[in-house]
Amino acid sequence: MQVIETLEELARALDKERASGRQVGLVPTMGALHAGHLALVERARAECDVVVVTVFVNPLQFGPGEDLATYPRDEAGDIEAARRAGVDHVFLPPVEEMYPGPVLTSVRVSGLADGLEGASRAGHFEGVATVVAKLFAAVGRCRAYFGEKDYQQLLVVRRLAADLSFPVEVVGCETVREGDGLALSSRNARLTPEERAAAPVLYRAMQAGRSAIGAGERRSRRVAAVMAEVVGAEPLARLDYAAAVDASDLTGPAVLAGDVRLLVAARIGSTRLIDNIGTTAP
Ligand code: PAF
Repeated sequence: MQVIETLEELARALDKERASGRQVGLVPTMGALHAGHLALVERARAECDVVVVTVFVNPLQFGPGEDLATYPRDEAGDIEAARRAGVDHVFLPPVEEMYPGPVLTSVRVSGLADGLEGASRAGHFEGVATVVAKLFAAVGRCRAYFGEKDYQQLLVVRRLAADLSFPVEVVGCETVREGDGLALSSRNARLTPEERAAAPVLYRAMQAGRSAIGAGERRSRRVAAVMAEVVGAEPLARLDYAAAVDASDLTGPAVLAGDVRLLVAARIGSTRLIDNIGTTAP
């Protein structure tokens, strides 16, 4: 396995793979690799000939007062985990490689990126879209694997690839969960034992939302209120938002119909967690 630190070297290595007829699979991450990331790698390995994992904690997607400084980092562990998972190339650039000077050009996906996480975290998706565009540009033609855990990000990235004509097929992969429903996330590592015990409240809230829809509730505000109530009952949780929206474009119709996405964001102690599930309102 090759560890690469520059964009030029990354582009060269993958051009060479493609020249030998190999399909490239890309798994972009911010490191602190867990079983959720490894599921993306596994899918990429099953569907592609060569797999590149990028590990870069992207400062552009963290707002002032967010957790950039304390975001979990474990470069040696990530390299080892990637090696064990059969990854072919790990791209681990220093910040100066990705942003050698002030960032004057950025990518904004309007509409899709404005609500939910976009509303709670100003500039977040612009940071995500910009770094993903830089990775797509360097990697070139590939299939790129993103987790549904960041559902809004998945839609933003899919739209960005289409709008900017990147030769990238964006593949969404199902969220990996602990036995009690907690979605795997690098940020889970920061939960105290009490907070960890409280954290599955996000999943329970979404299940309650899904049950409400199953029982015939179609008013999106009612479904959101059901989810908010479940989170509100957990003393260690502070709700940021609970929403029931159209799964294709995240718009919030008053009356739900067809494919629906239920999304929740909450702070458990000082750690902000997000999660979502899909369901149908027949
Ligand atoms: O999902 C993530 O880990 C990040 O947002 C991504 C896509 C790697 C961009 O920094």
